[in-house]
Amino acid sequence: MLSLKAIIATALTLIPGAITAPGSLLPLETSLTYNSLDARQGSPWQWWTEGQGQFSCQQQGGGKYSCTWSGKSGGGMVAGTGWGSGRKTVKYSGDYNPKGPGYLAVYGWTRNPLVEYYIVESWDVLAPGEPWTLRSNFTSGTASYAFYTAQRVNKPSIEGTRTFTQYFSVRSEAEKKVGAVGGSINTADHFDAWSKAGYRLGNFESAMYMITEAFANGTKLPSGTSTITVS
Ligand SMILES: *[C@@H]1O[C@H](CO)[C@@H](O)[C@H](O)[C@H]1NC(C)=O
Ligand SMILES: *[C@@H]1O[C@H](CO)[C@@H](O)[C@H](O)[C@H]1NC(C)=O
Repeated sequence: MLSLKAIIATALTLIPGAITAPGSLLPLETSLTYNSLDARQGSPWQWWTEGQGQFSCQQQGGGKYSCTWSGKSGGGMVAGTGWGSGRKTVKYSGDYNPKGPGYLAVYGWTRNPLVEYYIVESWDVLAPGEPWTLRSNFTSGTASYAFYTAQRVNKPSIEGTRTFTQYFSVRSEAEKKVGAVGGSINTADHFDAWSKAGYRLGNFESAMYMITEAFANGTKLPSGTSTITVS
């Protein structure tokens, strides 16, 4: 999440509230390049890389994407399918086989206040960029999460270089799955739990994504595969 080097599949307009379902196999590598984090939040897909390594992801239509990654020191990527942000149930299924730092998560931003938020469902190594502070524990249906916040100082945001808070819901270690993954995420339960702990969101002005994120952390290098369908 540190670089502004972003690659976006296409400048298609996101249809609020609807999963964007590109009709054919689209190799994201061949697509438009944006240099601003803001620009890529309007896209129906996330796709960017930084540093060295081999990163390959494809949108396959119907909310499905596949990734293979092997990052070297300093290398990382974010890929995923987006849809209109807000209070809704996100269903996902597929395979997620990570090694090293990174996660499978719902990801998005709000403005006023400026917040970068994550609902982390699975991971191999959690390696926060800034220290995480535990704010609360809560359940959504039968799923248990811990809510953490972190402060980013003068970092890239959808409003340029800013200081802002990150919100992280993290699924309990005991419930976390790797390999075959799937479930329903009720984003409203998370937003309400965060608000109850004193951390409200602002306005949803950009899309929300189900992302596969991978990054190097010192000598811990990321590699793996994911095939995820969201609906
Ligand atoms: C990487 O790991 C170190 C501790 O080993 C930590 O201080 C650092 O913030 C971690 N995260 C990232 C994203 O580099
Ligand atoms: C909250 O969640 C964290 C992370 O799973 C855990 O370490 C902690 O014990 C939990 N606290 C309570 C009160 O359940």
